[in-house]
Amino acid sequence: MSKQRTLSIIKPDAVRKNVIGKIINRFEEAGLYIVAAKFKKLSRHEAENFYYIHKDRSFFKELVDFMVSGPSFIQVLEGDDAVQKNRNIMGNTDPKKADVGTIRADFADSIDANAVHGSDSLDNASKEISFFFSEIEICSKEYD
Ligand code: CMP
Repeated sequence: MSKQRTLSIIKPDAVRKNVIGKIINRFEEAGLYIVAAKFKKLSRHEAENFYYIHKDRSFFKELVDFMVSGPSFIQVLEGDDAVQKNRNIMGNTDPKKADVGTIRADFADSIDANAVHGSDSLDNASKEISFFFSEIEICSKEYD
């Protein structure tokens, strides 16, 4: 397995529920390291650009409205197989379909308010990380 980085967003619904720490604990328990983090309320322009890939989807306006409704906690996670590992921990995009014990099953209310976002591929992880962080803001974990 190779060391990877992925972008994770703890979304406004989870921030409002005051479960940032509980969600971060899931990452740490899985062996992922937080190597950069910021607390940020996205502007509409930022949310539209971040989710540009979904601009033609029927849910785009609701998605953007939701993402600007409050602050998000945005992190870079690093570790072995970080992209897929994070997706496994998050569970299905729709919390109703998410496996028991995943973040979305435990903390999300709906497909819109689904607690977390995680990059879906290594290529997108790189793009999404550079959307929010410059390289000098990332404190890589040193491995043996
Ligand atoms: P996220 O992983 O942040 O990526 C895009 C978001 O769009 C997704 O989580 C959901 O919160 C939201 N969304 C709303 N409806 C849908 C849908 N039908 N399919 C996929 N994503 C959706």
